[in-house]
Amino acid sequence: MEMLTFSHVEKHFGEKKVLQDASFSVPEHTIFGFIGKNGAGKTTAMKLILGLLACDSGEILVNGFPVRYGNTRTNRFIGYLPDVPEFYPYMTPTEYLHFCGEVAGMPAKECKARAKELLRLVGLEKERGRIKGFSRGMKQRLGIAQALFGRPKLLICDEPTSALDPAGRKELLDILAAAKEQSAVLFSTHILSDVEHICDKVAFLHEGRVALHGSLEKIRRLRKSTSMEIEMERPEDAKTLLAAFPYLQQKGRTHLQQEGTGMASGLSMQCGWQKGNAHLLLEDTARLPEILHFLAGQELPIQRMERKEPTLEDLFLEVIAK
Ligand SMILES: Nc1ncnc2c1ncn2[C@@H]1O[C@H](COP(=O)(O)OP(=O)(O)OP(=O)(O)O)[C@@H](O)[C@H]1O
Ligand SMILES: [Mg+2]
Repeated sequence: MEMLTFSHVEKHFGEKKVLQDASFSVPEHTIFGFIGKNGAGKTTAMKLILGLLACDSGEILVNGFPVRYGNTRTNRFIGYLPDVPEFYPYMTPTEYLHFCGEVAGMPAKECKARAKELLRLVGLEKERGRIKGFSRGMKQRLGIAQALFGRPKLLICDEPTSALDPAGRKELLDILAAAKEQSAVLFSTHILSDVEHICDKVAFLHEGRVALHGSLEKIRRLRKSTSMEIEMERPEDAKTLLAAFPYLQQKGRTHLQQEGTGMASGLSMQCGWQKGNAHLLLEDTARLPEILHFLAGQELPIQRMERKEPTLEDLFLEVIAK
């Protein structure tokens, strides 16, 4: 069952086309990564789902029901964490969640139990201080607790990890992974390592269009890498190899940093020939036999040889280069 269906949605602001023929869907119990650089239209898409903006054409269904601009009834299925969540700063997290439950008309006893359960889920159960003293990570975690309060079928989080340090991001991703048990999760990001860690499905949004959409495995399979990384035991042997086969590359090892990589913070590129570097890249593996023949003939020891699998970042860069 699809929790969210976005079909052929168009949205313009004046002359500016922000979303064009955008289609994707989020099945239940799925974590869906909505990827796009700044200005790609991620927040606009979320506001359309929440009925805060009107589509120019196309249709959005939440739990099978159509979204209507204005006070849409489909919001009863949705929990929403905006990119910059706002709270009453003088409240404690427990008071805040009780308040949210009261506003939603939940009986006091149920409200208390739910608040306790959620504060435990987001790791704030021992926090007695007021929200005004909270770090950004704590506020994001409280925001998720609030968004989950009404047991939504669809949890929407707008860049929940962007402002967090690596430890905070890991905690938040763990919370989203736990939330998948009860809700489908749609979260936007430009941090591709976050997507690789927890998402089941992804959509790349580029210039208002869904450029690529599907399961992470399917997207990875789209491009089978043909390049090979060769690491020599001794840097001087890498130089010998390079002199014999000038088509080998000294640079271009692009990879995701383990932590903190994002397009906002700049791509993590390991480029250039560093002194003592024993790494080479062979783009066309059809030429591997002649290299192996040379290595054997010269008795040059290899440290490692590995097919270079395309990362999500490689794929994304390909998509936005088109
Ligand atoms: N209310 C508005 N009026 C006019 N233009 C808008 C409005 N809201 C968004 N836009 C424009 O629509 C485009 C997409 O904006 P949006 O906020 O959806 O991008 P985003 O993918 O969420 O970006 P970011 O990663 O920076 O949050 C931008 O060019 C933005 O300037
Ligand atoms: Mg945004």
